[in-house]
Amino acid sequence: MALRTQVGIIGAGPAGLLLSHILHLQGIESIILEKNSRNDVEAIIKAGVLEQGTVDLMNEIGAGERMMKEGFHHEGIILHFDGRDERVDFPSLTGGKRVTIYAQHDVNKDLIKIRLDGGGDIRFEAKDVSLYDLDSDAPKVRFRSKEGGFEEITCDFIAGCDGTQGISRPSIPAGVLKIYERLYPFGWFGILCKAAPSSDELIYAMHERGFALVSTRSPDIQRMYFQCSPTEKLDAWSDDRIWAEFRARLETKNGWAPKEGPIFSKTIIGMRSLVAEPLRYGRLFLAGDSAHVVPPTGAKGLNLAASDAQILARALVAYYKSHRGDLLDGYSATALRRIWKATRFSWWMTSMMHTFPGADEFQHRLQLAELDYVAGSRAGATALAENYVGLPIV
Ligand code: FAD
Ligand code: DHB
Repeated sequence: MALRTQVGIIGAGPAGLLLSHILHLQGIESIILEKNSRNDVEAIIKAGVLEQGTVDLMNEIGAGERMMKEGFHHEGIILHFDGRDERVDFPSLTGGKRVTIYAQHDVNKDLIKIRLDGGGDIRFEAKDVSLYDLDSDAPKVRFRSKEGGFEEITCDFIAGCDGTQGISRPSIPAGVLKIYERLYPFGWFGILCKAAPSSDELIYAMHERGFALVSTRSPDIQRMYFQCSPTEKLDAWSDDRIWAEFRARLETKNGWAPKEGPIFSKTIIGMRSLVAEPLRYGRLFLAGDSAHVVPPTGAKGLNLAASDAQILARALVAYYKSHRGDLLDGYSATALRRIWKATRFSWWMTSMMHTFPGADEFQHRLQLAELDYVAGSRAGATALAENYVGLPIV
């Protein structure tokens, strides 16, 4: 069956769902094609920290009610190094900003609900999605629907919001994109456990044994990570071994230790930085992880997906409402300015907090000195705080 829409969106992650809902509020129609089931999109465990701007956006578009009630609103983070804790206070350094801890699958759940309640068209379990005629005025998407038949959608524009493993970026002809990439020689071992929160705020710990992070999900579910080898095996880590590792890396001179409980999820996350430029080919625009990836340190991935969606929506609204193509022409350059700053910040946090294979005592001392400077200087702390709560969209 031949379908038509203004904006065809590939992927129902934060980028695609936000874009679709912002456009809907401006009277612009879209169809989202998502390869996974609704259940899967609402269940996959990913990021947890929302910048002030992402929280403001969720509230502005009417999707923030549960987030404001159930999220944890944090006004700082703890930097943990050399056996001590140093707090970076966000509001006093950033003109009142803070972050909210609210899981990505809850963001997806809230956005899917509001989109479907508003009559939105999300095709879950859309398989074999392929893109055609991207450099024409009528780009097309073909897919196999949940019911099994092939369908085609003719669009004005296509937004590739289908993450790192999507088909949008690979649909761009060879030689158009330039890829900038950095692989890190470690990964993160992430756990979810049943326990009370260990800390009122997130703890980022630098230790010679490697980085560790204490985060949270709810009053009785906690999220924690520790740096591991990229080839680490989940099976090699019993609960006892995991807790011994956390205790060693989080030890303080005053005897603080994290609260322990049964671990019910273990995952290993790879670490890399990647930026593809430009974010456009013909009438295809890339947004979110389909165009760029950051290492998780600093929690920028989901937030960049949100700011890309906001910038792209603004450009599409200008096109449809004011017949202006200049914002679409400028989308890639505008979004990339913010993407590169988040890429820099994530790389910097990663480099400052992790133990690199083969690093010597000199390197470790430099990292300690940098953390001591960041924690002890208003200028240093401000540089961390204003990036962590999120830089403005230009
Ligand atoms: P996604 O959320 O990946 O959404 C893309 C959607 O497109 C998916 O639903 C996918 O099923 C769909 N899709 C893919 N291919 C196709 C196709 N061919 N056809 C149709 N649909 C398709 N960031 C942090 O900041 N902190 C973290 O702790 C953190 N943890 C992470 C843990 C994991 C395991 C992963 C994978 C990522 C993590 N990230 C983290 C990154 C963060 O979650 C992403 O930056 C964020 O999901 C980007 O949103 P997005 O909408 O661009 O892409
Ligand atoms: C979480 C993830 C991050 O990458 C981070 O920097 C902080 C918190 C989390 O999953 O809670």
